[in-house]
Amino acid sequence: MQSTDQMTRSGVAAELYLDLLKKCLSRYIFGEQYRPLTGRNRIARAAVGAVHGVLRPAGFELVRHSQFDSAMRAAGIDIPADAETMIGLSRLNHLQDCVTEVISEGVPGDLIETGVWRGGACILMRAVLKAYGETGRTVWLADSFEGLPEPNRTRYPAETDEGLVRGLFSAGLEQVQENFRRYGLLDSQVRFLPGWFRDTLPHAPFSRLALMRLDGDLYESTMDALVNLYPRLSVGGYVIIDDYFLACCRAAVDDFRARENVRETLLRTEDNMGAYWKRVR
Ligand SMILES: C[S@@+](CC[C@H](N)C(=O)[O-])C[C@H]1O[C@@H](n2cnc3c(N)ncnc32)[C@H](O)[C@@H]1O
Repeated sequence: MQSTDQMTRSGVAAELYLDLLKKCLSRYIFGEQYRPLTGRNRIARAAVGAVHGVLRPAGFELVRHSQFDSAMRAAGIDIPADAETMIGLSRLNHLQDCVTEVISEGVPGDLIETGVWRGGACILMRAVLKAYGETGRTVWLADSFEGLPEPNRTRYPAETDEGLVRGLFSAGLEQVQENFRRYGLLDSQVRFLPGWFRDTLPHAPFSRLALMRLDGDLYESTMDALVNLYPRLSVGGYVIIDDYFLACCRAAVDDFRARENVRETLLRTEDNMGAYWKRVR
Protein backbone atom coordinates (compact mmCIF):
# COMPACT_ATOMS: atom_id res chain seq x y z
CA MET A 1 0.00 0.00 0.00
CA GLN A 2 1.26 3.52 -0.88
CA SER A 3 1.84 6.09 1.89
CA THR A 4 0.16 9.53 1.59
CA ASP A 5 3.57 10.93 0.68
CA GLN A 6 4.03 8.42 -2.14
CA MET A 7 0.51 9.15 -3.44
CA THR A 8 1.20 12.91 -3.45
CA ARG A 9 4.48 12.33 -5.28
CA SER A 10 2.85 10.11 -7.94
CA GLY A 11 0.12 12.78 -8.43
CA VAL A 12 2.79 15.43 -8.98
CA ALA A 13 4.67 13.12 -11.37
CA ALA A 14 1.46 12.51 -13.36
CA GLU A 15 0.88 16.28 -13.67
CA LEU A 16 4.48 16.85 -14.78
CA TYR A 17 4.20 14.07 -17.38
CA LEU A 18 0.95 15.48 -18.79
CA ASP A 19 2.35 19.00 -18.82
CA LEU A 20 5.41 17.93 -20.81
CA LEU A 21 3.29 15.75 -23.10
CA LYS A 22 1.04 18.68 -24.08
CA LYS A 23 4.08 20.84 -24.87
CA CYS A 24 5.51 18.04 -27.04
CA LEU A 25 2.23 17.26 -28.84
CA SER A 26 1.77 20.95 -29.73
CA ARG A 27 5.55 21.51 -30.27
CA TYR A 28 5.12 24.50 -27.96
CA ILE A 29 8.57 24.02 -26.46
CA PHE A 30 10.40 23.17 -29.66
CA GLY A 31 9.24 26.02 -31.88
CA GLU A 32 9.23 24.71 -35.46
CA GLN A 33 11.85 26.57 -37.52
CA TYR A 34 10.75 25.63 -41.04
CA ARG A 35 7.45 25.28 -42.86
CA PRO A 36 6.86 23.45 -46.15
CA LEU A 37 6.41 25.91 -49.02
CA THR A 38 2.85 25.77 -50.35
CA GLY A 39 2.18 28.98 -52.34
CA ARG A 40 -0.28 31.77 -51.57
CA ASN A 41 -2.63 31.35 -54.54
CA ARG A 42 -3.73 28.61 -56.90
CA ILE A 43 -1.06 29.34 -59.54
CA ALA A 44 1.74 29.49 -56.97
CA ARG A 45 0.46 26.28 -55.35
CA ALA A 46 0.46 24.51 -58.72
CA ALA A 47 4.02 25.71 -59.42
CA VAL A 48 5.25 24.60 -55.99
CA GLY A 49 3.45 21.27 -56.44
CA ALA A 50 5.23 20.69 -59.76
CA VAL A 51 8.64 21.48 -58.25
CA HIS A 52 7.87 19.19 -55.28
CA GLY A 53 6.94 16.44 -57.72
CA VAL A 54 10.50 16.53 -59.03
CA LEU A 55 12.27 17.08 -55.69
CA ARG A 56 10.45 14.64 -53.39
CA PRO A 57 11.50 11.40 -55.12
CA ALA A 58 15.08 12.58 -54.63
CA GLY A 59 14.46 13.21 -50.92
CA PHE A 60 14.26 17.03 -51.06
CA GLU A 61 11.51 19.46 -50.11
CA LEU A 62 11.06 23.21 -50.48
CA VAL A 63 10.69 24.81 -47.06
CA ARG A 64 10.84 28.38 -45.81
CA HIS A 65 12.27 29.68 -42.59
CA SER A 66 9.52 30.72 -40.17
CA GLN A 67 9.48 32.79 -37.01
CA PHE A 68 7.87 30.68 -34.26
CA ASP A 69 5.12 32.57 -32.39
CA SER A 70 4.50 30.90 -29.03
CA ALA A 71 1.36 32.97 -28.33
CA MET A 72 -0.21 31.73 -31.56
CA ARG A 73 0.75 28.14 -30.77
CA ALA A 74 -0.73 28.45 -27.27
CA ALA A 75 -4.02 29.61 -28.78
CA GLY A 76 -3.89 26.98 -31.55
CA ILE A 77 -4.19 29.57 -34.33
CA ASP A 78 -1.38 28.47 -36.66
CA ILE A 79 -1.32 25.13 -38.49
CA PRO A 80 1.78 23.29 -37.22
CA ALA A 81 4.27 21.81 -39.66
CA ASP A 82 4.78 18.61 -37.70
CA ALA A 83 3.05 18.77 -34.30
CA GLU A 84 0.53 15.98 -33.60
CA THR A 85 -2.22 18.49 -32.86
CA MET A 86 -3.22 21.94 -34.05
CA ILE A 87 -5.49 22.79 -31.10
CA GLY A 88 -2.79 24.60 -29.11
CA LEU A 89 -1.79 24.47 -25.50
CA SER A 90 -4.79 26.30 -24.07
CA ARG A 91 -7.38 23.87 -25.53
CA LEU A 92 -5.17 20.90 -24.56
CA ASN A 93 -5.22 22.20 -20.96
CA HIS A 94 -9.00 22.51 -21.12
CA LEU A 95 -9.35 19.00 -22.55
CA GLN A 96 -7.20 17.58 -19.75
CA ASP A 97 -9.36 19.38 -17.15
CA CYS A 98 -12.56 17.94 -18.63
CA VAL A 99 -11.19 14.37 -18.80
CA THR A 100 -9.85 14.61 -15.25
CA GLU A 101 -13.23 15.87 -14.04
CA VAL A 102 -15.27 13.07 -15.63
CA ILE A 103 -12.85 10.54 -14.11
CA SER A 104 -12.97 12.07 -10.63
CA GLU A 105 -16.77 12.45 -10.73
CA GLY A 106 -17.21 8.88 -12.04
CA VAL A 107 -19.22 9.98 -15.09
CA PRO A 108 -19.82 6.73 -17.01
CA GLY A 109 -18.64 6.22 -20.58
CA ASP A 110 -15.87 6.35 -23.14
CA LEU A 111 -14.17 9.36 -24.74
CA ILE A 112 -14.37 10.24 -28.43
CA GLU A 113 -12.94 12.77 -30.83
CA THR A 114 -14.60 13.21 -34.23
CA GLY A 115 -11.93 14.74 -36.47
CA VAL A 116 -8.51 13.74 -35.18
CA TRP A 117 -6.02 14.81 -37.93
CA ARG A 118 -2.66 13.49 -36.57
CA GLY A 119 -4.25 12.28 -33.33
CA GLY A 120 -2.62 14.60 -30.76
CA ALA A 121 -5.75 15.47 -28.75
CA CYS A 122 -6.62 11.75 -28.49
CA ILE A 123 -3.06 10.90 -27.46
CA LEU A 124 -3.54 13.33 -24.58
CA MET A 125 -6.88 11.74 -23.61
CA ARG A 126 -5.28 8.27 -23.56
CA ALA A 127 -2.40 9.63 -21.50
CA VAL A 128 -4.76 11.15 -18.91
CA LEU A 129 -6.52 7.78 -18.51
CA LYS A 130 -3.16 6.09 -18.10
CA ALA A 131 -1.78 8.68 -15.68
CA TYR A 132 -4.79 8.18 -13.39
CA GLY A 133 -4.91 4.37 -13.70
CA GLU A 134 -8.27 4.43 -15.50
CA THR A 135 -8.52 1.03 -17.23
CA GLY A 136 -12.27 0.80 -17.96
CA ARG A 137 -12.62 3.47 -20.64
CA THR A 138 -11.73 3.55 -24.34
CA VAL A 139 -10.60 6.52 -26.45
CA TRP A 140 -12.35 6.42 -29.86
CA LEU A 141 -10.92 8.17 -32.93
CA ALA A 142 -13.42 8.87 -35.71
CA ASP A 143 -11.97 10.19 -38.96
CA SER A 144 -11.94 9.61 -42.69
CA PHE A 145 -8.13 9.56 -42.43
CA GLU A 146 -8.23 11.29 -45.81
CA GLY A 147 -9.19 14.83 -44.78
CA LEU A 148 -12.45 16.77 -45.03
CA PRO A 149 -15.30 15.51 -47.22
CA GLU A 150 -16.51 17.55 -50.20
CA PRO A 151 -18.69 20.31 -48.68
CA ASN A 152 -22.29 19.74 -49.79
CA ARG A 153 -23.66 23.28 -50.11
CA THR A 154 -26.90 22.16 -51.73
CA ARG A 155 -27.87 19.99 -48.77
CA TYR A 156 -26.27 22.26 -46.15
CA PRO A 157 -26.55 25.93 -47.24
CA ALA A 158 -24.75 26.98 -44.01
CA GLU A 159 -21.59 25.33 -45.37
CA THR A 160 -20.19 28.78 -46.23
CA ASP A 161 -16.52 28.68 -45.22
CA GLU A 162 -14.77 28.68 -48.62
CA GLY A 163 -11.36 27.59 -47.29
CA LEU A 164 -12.67 24.19 -46.15
CA VAL A 165 -12.06 22.02 -49.20
CA ARG A 166 -12.11 18.28 -49.77
CA GLY A 167 -8.96 16.55 -48.50
CA LEU A 168 -7.87 19.41 -46.21
CA PHE A 169 -6.22 18.18 -42.98
CA SER A 170 -5.50 14.74 -44.29
CA ALA A 171 -3.48 12.32 -42.12
CA GLY A 172 -3.53 8.57 -42.72
CA LEU A 173 -4.61 5.94 -40.19
CA GLU A 174 -1.13 4.39 -40.10
CA GLN A 175 0.47 7.75 -39.40
CA VAL A 176 -1.93 8.35 -36.49
CA GLN A 177 -1.29 4.87 -35.08
CA GLU A 178 2.44 5.45 -35.39
CA ASN A 179 2.07 8.73 -33.47
CA PHE A 180 0.36 6.86 -30.61
CA ARG A 181 3.10 4.21 -30.73
CA ARG A 182 5.88 6.79 -30.48
CA TYR A 183 4.38 8.04 -27.20
CA GLY A 184 3.94 4.47 -25.94
CA LEU A 185 0.15 4.81 -25.90
CA LEU A 186 -1.18 2.50 -28.63
CA ASP A 187 -3.07 -0.28 -26.86
CA SER A 188 -6.49 -1.91 -26.51
CA GLN A 189 -7.95 1.25 -24.89
CA VAL A 190 -7.54 3.09 -28.21
CA ARG A 191 -9.95 2.27 -31.05
CA PHE A 192 -10.42 3.68 -34.53
CA LEU A 193 -13.55 4.41 -36.57
CA PRO A 194 -12.25 5.01 -40.10
CA GLY A 195 -14.72 6.46 -42.62
CA TRP A 196 -17.14 9.36 -43.02
CA PHE A 197 -19.01 10.27 -39.83
CA ARG A 198 -22.36 9.79 -41.58
CA ASP A 199 -21.43 6.10 -42.09
CA THR A 200 -19.43 5.26 -38.95
CA LEU A 201 -21.10 7.15 -36.09
CA PRO A 202 -24.67 5.78 -36.28
CA HIS A 203 -23.38 2.24 -35.51
CA ALA A 204 -20.29 3.07 -33.42
CA PRO A 205 -19.95 0.17 -30.94
CA PHE A 206 -20.23 1.96 -27.58
CA SER A 207 -23.29 2.77 -25.54
CA ARG A 208 -22.17 5.59 -23.17
CA LEU A 209 -19.83 8.53 -23.60
CA ALA A 210 -18.39 10.71 -20.85
CA LEU A 211 -16.82 13.19 -23.27
CA MET A 212 -17.30 14.00 -26.95
CA ARG A 213 -14.84 16.33 -28.63
CA LEU A 214 -15.98 17.53 -32.06
CA ASP A 215 -13.34 18.83 -34.46
CA GLY A 216 -14.62 18.14 -37.97
CA ASP A 217 -14.90 21.82 -38.98
CA LEU A 218 -17.86 21.54 -41.39
CA TYR A 219 -21.59 22.01 -40.71
CA GLU A 220 -22.29 18.46 -41.89
CA SER A 221 -19.48 16.94 -39.80
CA THR A 222 -20.50 18.79 -36.66
CA MET A 223 -24.20 17.97 -37.09
CA ASP A 224 -23.52 14.27 -37.84
CA ALA A 225 -21.51 14.03 -34.61
CA LEU A 226 -24.10 15.82 -32.48
CA VAL A 227 -27.07 13.86 -33.84
CA ASN A 228 -25.38 10.47 -33.45
CA LEU A 229 -23.43 10.96 -30.23
CA TYR A 230 -25.30 13.41 -27.98
CA PRO A 231 -28.04 10.88 -27.10
CA ARG A 232 -25.27 8.61 -25.74
CA LEU A 233 -23.59 11.32 -23.61
CA SER A 234 -23.98 10.69 -19.86
CA VAL A 235 -25.32 13.37 -17.57
CA GLY A 236 -22.22 15.05 -16.15
CA GLY A 237 -20.33 14.52 -19.43
CA TYR A 238 -18.82 17.18 -21.68
CA VAL A 239 -19.39 18.24 -25.28
CA ILE A 240 -16.40 20.18 -26.61
CA ILE A 241 -16.71 21.97 -29.95
CA ASP A 242 -13.28 22.89 -31.23
CA ASP A 243 -14.43 24.94 -34.23
CA TYR A 244 -17.09 27.24 -32.80
CA PHE A 245 -15.16 30.19 -34.29
CA LEU A 246 -16.03 28.88 -37.80
CA ALA A 247 -19.41 30.15 -39.07
CA CYS A 248 -20.49 26.76 -40.48
CA CYS A 249 -19.65 24.84 -37.32
CA ARG A 250 -21.31 27.50 -35.15
CA ALA A 251 -24.47 27.25 -37.27
CA ALA A 252 -24.62 23.46 -36.78
CA VAL A 253 -24.19 23.75 -33.01
CA ASP A 254 -26.78 26.54 -32.72
CA ASP A 255 -29.27 24.65 -34.95
CA PHE A 256 -28.84 21.43 -32.96
CA ARG A 257 -29.19 23.14 -29.58
CA ALA A 258 -32.33 25.00 -30.70
CA ARG A 259 -33.90 21.90 -32.26
CA GLU A 260 -33.15 19.61 -29.30
CA ASN A 261 -33.90 22.30 -26.74
CA VAL A 262 -30.44 21.99 -25.14
CA ARG A 263 -30.58 24.56 -22.34
CA GLU A 264 -27.16 24.05 -20.75
CA THR A 265 -25.14 27.27 -21.01
CA LEU A 266 -22.67 27.28 -23.89
CA LEU A 267 -19.29 28.48 -22.60
CA ARG A 268 -16.32 29.67 -24.67
CA THR A 269 -12.81 28.24 -24.25
CA GLU A 270 -10.21 30.61 -22.81
CA ASP A 271 -8.66 31.22 -26.26
CA ASN A 272 -12.14 32.13 -27.57
CA MET A 273 -11.81 29.61 -30.43
CA GLY A 274 -13.89 26.70 -29.13
CA ALA A 275 -17.00 26.23 -27.00
CA TYR A 276 -18.33 23.58 -24.63
CA TRP A 277 -21.06 22.62 -22.25
CA LYS A 278 -21.57 20.06 -19.51
CA ARG A 279 -24.69 17.93 -19.84
CA VAL A 280 -26.87 18.29 -16.76
CA ARG A 281 -30.13 16.68 -17.92
C1 LIG B 1 -9.12 20.29 -38.08
S1 LIG B 1 -8.78 18.62 -38.27
C2 LIG B 1 -8.81 17.99 -36.61
C3 LIG B 1 -7.69 18.50 -35.72
C4 LIG B 1 -7.36 17.60 -34.55
N1 LIG B 1 -8.49 17.41 -33.67
C5 LIG B 1 -6.17 18.05 -33.76
O1 LIG B 1 -6.11 17.75 -32.55
O2 LIG B 1 -5.26 18.66 -34.33
C6 LIG B 1 -10.29 18.01 -38.95
C7 LIG B 1 -10.34 16.50 -39.13
O3 LIG B 1 -11.70 16.12 -39.34
C8 LIG B 1 -11.79 15.08 -40.27
N2 LIG B 1 -13.18 15.13 -40.82
C9 LIG B 1 -13.93 16.24 -41.00
N3 LIG B 1 -15.15 15.93 -41.41
C10 LIG B 1 -15.22 14.58 -41.46
C11 LIG B 1 -16.26 13.64 -41.77
N4 LIG B 1 -17.50 14.06 -42.12
N5 LIG B 1 -16.00 12.33 -41.69
C12 LIG B 1 -14.76 11.89 -41.34
N6 LIG B 1 -13.72 12.74 -41.02
C13 LIG B 1 -13.95 14.06 -41.07
C14 LIG B 1 -10.66 15.37 -41.24
O4 LIG B 1 -10.23 14.20 -41.90
C15 LIG B 1 -9.58 15.94 -40.31
O5 LIG B 1 -8.72 14.93 -39.85
